[in-house]
Amino acid sequence: MSGWWVIGINYLIGSLPFGVIIGWLLKGIDIRKYGSGNIGATNVSRVLGFTPALLAGVADALKGFLGAYLATRFVQNPFLWFLAVFMIVIGHNWSVFLHFKGGKGVATTVGILFYLSYQAAIISFLSWIGMVLISRYSSLGSLAGALFMPIGLYIFKKSPEIIWWGIFACALVFLRHSENIKRLVGGKEHKIGKKGRE
Ligand code: G3P
Repeated sequence: MSGWWVIGINYLIGSLPFGVIIGWLLKGIDIRKYGSGNIGATNVSRVLGFTPALLAGVADALKGFLGAYLATRFVQNPFLWFLAVFMIVIGHNWSVFLHFKGGKGVATTVGILFYLSYQAAIISFLSWIGMVLISRYSSLGSLAGALFMPIGLYIFKKSPEIIWWGIFACALVFLRHSENIKRLVGGKEHKIGKKGRE
């Protein structure tokens, strides 16, 4: 079986914490100490504003896109392919560069989804933006976008391993948002559009 190496490489690519790097480079701060403490684009936007957030989100999405390309190009076995793709988000969420802590994997998952099916990515993105516009909660948008991932992949008739990836990736996004879900239920979640380093 060829392509085992992609599993390790994808973990390392996923581990690159662009939100943290951008916080250090642009403002000399550790993004993990501000806002929600998350390393993703939502918290970068909350703490540092739109442009740094865009940079962090695009960079995190590109990790996913590159990792999905490497897996699809070099791994033939469907189970290994699944593992190789999954390891990108595992790297982001439990980064080797952050003592096995990390983010929630939304932008990275979107990058993977965009590589696997841009149509499903558009459906997922529209459900994210729709939910954010209605609720002003980025986390609720992420959960809606995650739910529509496997649905979109199914609608666009992707292969079983891709649909299974969508189901597992959706479950992982929900798992990583457990604190957000508690805050949403308790009415204490951070709304978007409020900038500040509190
Ligand atoms: O993509 C992460 C987002 O859904 C929630 O981020 O910083 O509000 O926990 P945050």
